[in-house]
Amino acid sequence: MKKLVILSGAGMSAESGLRTFRDMNGLWEEYDVMEVASIEAWHRNPDLLIRFYNDRRKQMIESKPNRGHILLAELEKNYDVQIITQNVDDLHERAGSTNVLHLHGELTKARSSVDPSLVYTLVDPVMKMGDKCEKGSQLRPHIVWFGEAVPAMDDAIPIVESADYLCVIGTSLNVYPAAGLINYAPASAPLFLIDPNPPASLPRRVQVIAKGAGEGVAELMNRLNALRK
Ligand code: APR
Repeated sequence: MKKLVILSGAGMSAESGLRTFRDMNGLWEEYDVMEVASIEAWHRNPDLLIRFYNDRRKQMIESKPNRGHILLAELEKNYDVQIITQNVDDLHERAGSTNVLHLHGELTKARSSVDPSLVYTLVDPVMKMGDKCEKGSQLRPHIVWFGEAVPAMDDAIPIVESADYLCVIGTSLNVYPAAGLINYAPASAPLFLIDPNPPASLPRRVQVIAKGAGEGVAELMNRLNALRK
């Protein structure tokens, strides 16, 4: 089967009711990103970050996969679909996608604040100060904060390099290194981008589908079918 690689961002989950970051009413309009999503903020005020991610986890639990997530899962019938997401929600997985790589971590997990290899799936969705890892250190959200490395890039790059098709969905392509992944696509791979307000500077060969994720993935399926004929 041909390999379809998806690079998704917050816009993928917008139709599930989860806020994006940089749109109108985005999360970074309400919160100072360096106060709630940076390693410095964690050292300064861990309780604030634990509460911020508890709120986002609660909203994730109350949301459900949208048409775009569901259609991407359906595409696994005809393609080797590899999803690389900047999102920390579990909506791709809950829609049925089976190959999901989270570049920026996962809300459903916590990890030791002294040993990053100790990662735990959260049973109680509410974290609190005093929750400890097996080494006795405070547990932290399993999220990649600003100022931290993105170890999953080592796995993401070869996936993009082996794509037959690449589709970017719902990301402003503002944040590196994730945004740079598009440049690793083979020259032979058709590139698509689904976004109602597409980023301004895109490689010329990108086919823009200026729609929301739900309608956009349906359009992508039609365009991929046309390529198979
Ligand atoms: N369908 C598809 N795309 C949408 C929709 C929708 N219904 N609604 C909005 N969008 C698009 C916006 O036009 C925008 O281009 O989704 C994109 C969201 O961009 P951002 O809010 O910047 O989110 P993202 O690109 O995922 O942010 C990247 O920044 O703060 C960090 O770690 C955080 O992973 C995040 C990273």
